[in-house]
Amino acid sequence: MRKITLSGDAVYKGSLILVNSGHPCREAACEVPLVPVDDKNPAALLERQSARLLDKLMDETGVRGKIVAVSGWRSESEQIRIYEDSLAENGREFTQKYVAMPGCSEHQTGLAIDLAENKPDIDFIRPDFPYEGICRRFREKASAFGFVERYPKGREDVTGIGWEPWHFRYVGFPHAAIMQQQGMTLEEYHAFLKKHEYGINPFVYRINGRRIEISYLKSGKDGTSSLEVNDDVLCMVSGNNMDGFIITVWW
Ligand code: DAL
Ligand code: ZN
Repeated sequence: MRKITLSGDAVYKGSLILVNSGHPCREAACEVPLVPVDDKNPAALLERQSARLLDKLMDETGVRGKIVAVSGWRSESEQIRIYEDSLAENGREFTQKYVAMPGCSEHQTGLAIDLAENKPDIDFIRPDFPYEGICRRFREKASAFGFVERYPKGREDVTGIGWEPWHFRYVGFPHAAIMQQQGMTLEEYHAFLKKHEYGINPFVYRINGRRIEISYLKSGKDGTSSLEVNDDVLCMVSGNNMDGFIITVWW
């Protein structure tokens, strides 16, 4: 067995953090390494692992150049500018629907990307990313590479954001696949995982003969937490940006 010790700010970082109006992103989430999504578009940045998986997804689906990144990582000041510009141009109702409050945008974490079909006159706030053609091909493979459509139609009450077919969030595999299979938003996935406690009743996902256990660990009262894991498993830990961690164990 080996022991993993988690510091207090580990709750606020990792690929599964929930960022929304009730859970602003903390400083720890902003300390991730950022890299350009592709050489042709050096201004669009993503967290390194998310960028690597998006790159593989583009290769796998053969959509490179036909699908382009419109907006990746944003600083808080950039989110403030986008929010204020939208208020002035589009009004409050539109802005609250399609632009997260500064401090509460997933774009500030480097884990979110807005994508568009590569056509003239791409709209910055609501780019066109349909459900057919090359975008459909991309969508079909996205969850295998850890990406989900974060703000689905009909779930506006849960996410607090309007339907955004263009906004993809990296949560990692197998989480994206489970969310898609079960039709869960990230809010719902976290609520679901809270019922699967680490060391008690993990959620078991099986794929290609492998057993993957996913569970929730509440952080310790003093902020730090620790867990014991078997030596011959791969264990991945992400904060939930609320009160604990999601532990993913690959047997
Ligand atoms: N458009 C999404 C909600 C954002 O501004 O983060
Ligand atoms: Zn977005």
